[in-house]
Amino acid sequence: MCRMIIDKLRRPLHDLRISVTDKCNFRCQYCMPAEIFGPDFKFLNKDEILSFEEIERLARIFSKLGVKKLRITGGEPLMRKNIALLISKLNEIEGITDIGLTTNGVLLVKQSKELYEAGLRRLNISLDALDNEIFQKMNGRGVKSDVVLRGIETALNTGFSVKVNMVVQKGVNDSQIIPMAKHFRDMGITLRFIEYMDVGNTNGWNWNQVVTKKEIYDLLSEHFTLKPVDSNYYGEVAKRYKYKDSETEVGFITSVSESFCSTCTRARISADGKFYTCLFAAKGHDLKSLLRNIDDDEQILNEISGIWQNRNDRYSDERVIGSVSSSKKIEMSYIGG
Ligand code: GTP
Ligand code: 5AD
Ligand code: SF4
Ligand code: SF4
Repeated sequence: MCRMIIDKLRRPLHDLRISVTDKCNFRCQYCMPAEIFGPDFKFLNKDEILSFEEIERLARIFSKLGVKKLRITGGEPLMRKNIALLISKLNEIEGITDIGLTTNGVLLVKQSKELYEAGLRRLNISLDALDNEIFQKMNGRGVKSDVVLRGIETALNTGFSVKVNMVVQKGVNDSQIIPMAKHFRDMGITLRFIEYMDVGNTNGWNWNQVVTKKEIYDLLSEHFTLKPVDSNYYGEVAKRYKYKDSETEVGFITSVSESFCSTCTRARISADGKFYTCLFAAKGHDLKSLLRNIDDDEQILNEISGIWQNRNDRYSDERVIGSVSSSKKIEMSYIGG
């Protein structure tokens, strides 16, 4: 039986974002700057991260609280060994109707087939530039855009529904807005422009580096005619548009200029089993200890339910009205966006 719960701002729990590793094969400057995430950086040990059995158990409990949609994130989730096996287990959970995975795409040539066979159908693939000089610098590992484009192509040929995510940073990759829009419009793939966010404490974020949805929209309008598309469901993250005379969509994720906290239905689990009620939370709730010490699922369900019912996070709304505190935040690579 499924129990619906709402938080203090009357928001239901619908989605669970599960980070399966804090490691990544990229060092995007805006997420895991190489100066900080260097060879001496201490990532989580194997025994600190949740096992597949523990993740599956949690997902089952969350599904009893109304979660229908799962998103697998990292770090880079395809770096977690046997990730397809986890997907196939999650796919069997009653009540879970949608599973997506967010990846930088590098490992897709190798892994697309087994992920598809495990039941995964949706991939969000990050690509910040087509231009190699810009992209190699941004990913901090010198990887060329061709590598990701090949991953995208493999995913499409395998049968996946694919969206591309582009984080836009002023003076870094804003010159790529139009080339990226043209490229993915011609391929019939949805591209989403993401406003650069102040997640974590390491990326040195400031307002001057943000390119807002309005700025991107105005620029796109010089080249294309866009018409708005109604949102698909309550709490949808992206604002969506279609190119005129085409079924291809383009989207904007506007956490900075037009926050969307009032309909935020997302819970997040870090790779080490902490439950976060906001991407910008300073502290998580330790579910790993509960999983490792309590046999009764009902007891864990009640804990999770209590945490959600107490939730009043609305960080991005508060940022918009200028009332955020500068307290320590979790890193994006740890919680998966
Ligand atoms: P689908 O809509 O299911 O395709 O997934 P998604 O767009 O929610 O997931 P994805 O991992 O592709 O995230 C895209 C961007 O939206 C990333 O930059 C995320 O950090 C951001 N994002 C997703 N959910 C939230 C949220 O609750 N708050 C904020 N501020 N950003 C979010
Ligand atoms: N601001 C906005 N988006 C970010 N991502 C990572 N760091 C940031 C940031 N500081 C994006 C990634 C990926 C998604 C999970 O989050 O590029 O597309
Ligand atoms: Fe890795 Fe994604 Fe972070 Fe880039 S944004 S460092 S690909 S986790
Ligand atoms: Fe949800 Fe927090 Fe993002 Fe607002 S800032 S949409 S509450 S995760």
